[in-house]
Amino acid sequence: MSQILALACDYGGYALKEEIKKHLDAAGIAYRDFGTDSEASVNYPVYASKLCKSIQSGECYRGILVCGTGIGMSIAANKHKGIRAACASDSFSVKYTRLHNDANVLCLGGRVVGTGLALELVDLFIATEFEGGRHAERVAMLAAIENEQ
Ligand code: RB5
Repeated sequence: MSQILALACDYGGYALKEEIKKHLDAAGIAYRDFGTDSEASVNYPVYASKLCKSIQSGECYRGILVCGTGIGMSIAANKHKGIRAACASDSFSVKYTRLHNDANVLCLGGRVVGTGLALELVDLFIATEFEGGRHAERVAMLAAIENEQ
């Protein structure tokens, strides 16, 4: 499986995405940045889609999306087959969305969380593995819903 984390943002998440990159660089964690590359206005679904496609193709194993609230990115990401995106701003939710939902995308609000908290959430998202067991059956049910659409 790929060891590359995917990152993307819109202009509302650009500053935080750059902080996340510095943090990952310091930790020696490999990532690919799918943009955007400035605070100029762009449309968040475009960047959500680039990141989600990199997970669908297997190039990246998980991803982090940042917009102003994290919500637009999470809505866009969850339109993609096989993507389980969680918008979260607390550690309990990030921990359990990995343990129970096997979330493969974390969406953060660059205008919601401070940098210090966001970096802790990133670390937790990377470090926490899916618990499986009864939760695997539920995740399979999510895939079944997708396949019905
Ligand atoms: C951009 O102003 C803002 O709408 C976007 O970053 C995001 O928060 C959407 O959900």
